[in-house]
Amino acid sequence: MSDEHGLKLANERGISLGEIGQRIVLENEHVRIWEVKLEPGETIDFHIHYHPYVIISLGGGENEIETIFGDKRTTNEPLGETVFMNEMRAVHKLTNRSDTTYLSRLVELKHITWESDAADDTGAEPPARQADAQEALEEILIQTQDLDWVEKSLAGLSHKMLWRNEETGASIALIKFEKGAGIPKPHLHASNQFMYCLSGKYRYIPTDVMLVPGVFYCNPKGNVHGPAIADETCIFLEIYDGPHYPIKPDWYTNEEDAR
Ligand SMILES: [Fe+2]
Ligand SMILES: [Fe+2]
Repeated sequence: MSDEHGLKLANERGISLGEIGQRIVLENEHVRIWEVKLEPGETIDFHIHYHPYVIISLGGGENEIETIFGDKRTTNEPLGETVFMNEMRAVHKLTNRSDTTYLSRLVELKHITWESDAADDTGAEPPARQADAQEALEEILIQTQDLDWVEKSLAGLSHKMLWRNEETGASIALIKFEKGAGIPKPHLHASNQFMYCLSGKYRYIPTDVMLVPGVFYCNPKGNVHGPAIADETCIFLEIYDGPHYPIKPDWYTNEEDAR
């Protein structure tokens, strides 16, 4: 497979790609505007751009671009100079080769996202897209004591949903099993599951894995566990980083309870 953009090479070298600027000055659904600032000799480490962008220089601008393949190019972008980049460049870094500070604004145009030929090989989610996925987040504050427990269609199980990403299926909830309740069958989850036990006692029967107050439990995506039983009424903080189940398990009678 070709590696035109050097993502495979970066992966082989163990290089984790960085951000394309030091801080985001403004972001909305259309643009993400970075401040790029380099003191003389300073470098912005290896990164890649997933959107077309415009650079507006605010000073300095005698820089060197070096790709991960070792190709070097110098720039001359004094105050007011604008550059429009409309094609995906290989992984590169940027170094200020002058004796004055380089300052610019880099405006990413988010309506276009480039695909890389080697992206599938690295298995890495483009950093720019991770940032896009996070846009939906907003500051929330919930007093969980003010929420009612919502009963599910499995007897003795209820929850207080705290946060959900409708796009990815990820969720954070408080869950409660009454004493004697539990998940009746071996099963697996469609994403990584994380549990922190706040009270009670919950036991995965075949493996004797025991969740008691203070215990953190991580069950990786696809790992079979259960059946499980609450030896005492118990409460967990439970986090899934994606959908809970591949299909609705038969111990729930409605789809809503399986997410
Ligand atoms: Fe760059
Ligand atoms: Fe489970």
